[in-house]
Amino acid sequence: MKLKKAAGAAADILMYVIMLVQMLYAFTGNTLHELLGIAFFICLAVHIVMKRGWVKGLLKGGKRSGGRRFFDAVTVLLFVCILVLMISSMGVSRMIFPWFPYLGSADLHRYLATAVLTLAVIHGGMHGFLRTQHKKRAAFLIILGAAASVAVGTALVPYLSRHFKTVSIDYEAAVRGEQITSSGRTLAVYFTRVGNTDFAPDVDAVSGASLLLADGRLTGNTALLADMVADAIHCDVQAITLTGEQYPSRYGDTVSVAGKELRENARPAIEPVDISGYDEVILIYPIWWGTVPMPVASFLEQNEWNGKKLRLIATQGSSGFVSSTADIQRMADGAEVTELVSIYCDDIPHARPQITDCLRRLYQ
Ligand SMILES: Cc1cc2nc3c(=O)[nH]c(=O)nc-3n(C[C@H](O)[C@H](O)[C@H](O)COP(=O)(O)O)c2cc1C
Repeated sequence: MKLKKAAGAAADILMYVIMLVQMLYAFTGNTLHELLGIAFFICLAVHIVMKRGWVKGLLKGGKRSGGRRFFDAVTVLLFVCILVLMISSMGVSRMIFPWFPYLGSADLHRYLATAVLTLAVIHGGMHGFLRTQHKKRAAFLIILGAAASVAVGTALVPYLSRHFKTVSIDYEAAVRGEQITSSGRTLAVYFTRVGNTDFAPDVDAVSGASLLLADGRLTGNTALLADMVADAIHCDVQAITLTGEQYPSRYGDTVSVAGKELRENARPAIEPVDISGYDEVILIYPIWWGTVPMPVASFLEQNEWNGKKLRLIATQGSSGFVSSTADIQRMADGAEVTELVSIYCDDIPHARPQITDCLRRLYQ
């Protein structure tokens, strides 16, 4: 009996530890993340078996205090979120469930994980709340824990990913994939920090997720996506390149400079990109401050868009297209603007299937 209780408690503690480690995906990498995911669900099964008495009681119904009803509601919601998280985990798994349809929903997966961690904090805290005399203190600690968990999932995780992770990729494996037949003459245009930034010599040590080491060579996320598009449909590719001042080497400084450019509605000087010989432009850009980087605005306003098709691929650290689509439509007057896909920065090295899917949908 004692051993059973100890096993149950160990499984519970392990689940909380696993949830926290899972949030450090930027450091643990995909293999450990997927294996720990399996370990979590095994611990959950143990937990449910240990608590089957509670499940029976819940199904039976009967009179319950307000606190008890809240606890039950949180627990049921937690269970539902875990089930949906399980499906979303399989939908983004690349190692253990490669046969499961790739849902490409990393954002949803992260938000679900945040919801599960938050509800688990409340669920665990409620055990204490129902037993203690110090209800106010317990309620305060639960709210504090839940707020911290929401902050971890929505702010800290993307921050860590963006600032501290250096990603090495196998260029050929990342870029090569299914061929798609396109229609018309297409130009892929991208803007990225690489080529537009005054990088310090030790950039490899300080680079964030927005920079990739492709076979030892520094490349930008959007440059990699442009290569994926070009591999899929054999189109031309052009970069938007600054002719004047470059962005600073440090990510945080670039964020400040870009914020100032946006406030001033600046149009940084760029090399001309001529789109006149094309029917369609696939524009690949990072979301900066909820919209396009200002050099992209320069590119859009320097061209004549009447009758052209403008397809958008955005990369981002948490948001989708935000206001970039409406801003682009305004700046590329006369273009037929279509959103293709918005890709979370962590997913870019593995985004070839997403690129294939959206191009297939576009041209079929
Ligand atoms: C100046 C700056 C501003 C950013 N603003 C946002 C933002 O508002 N929303 C968001 O989700 N990501 C934001 N990010 C994260 C980038 O969108 C992400 O790093 C990018 O898509 C990766 O591509 P890159 O190689 O061009 O940096 C910002 C990044 C920078 C450098």
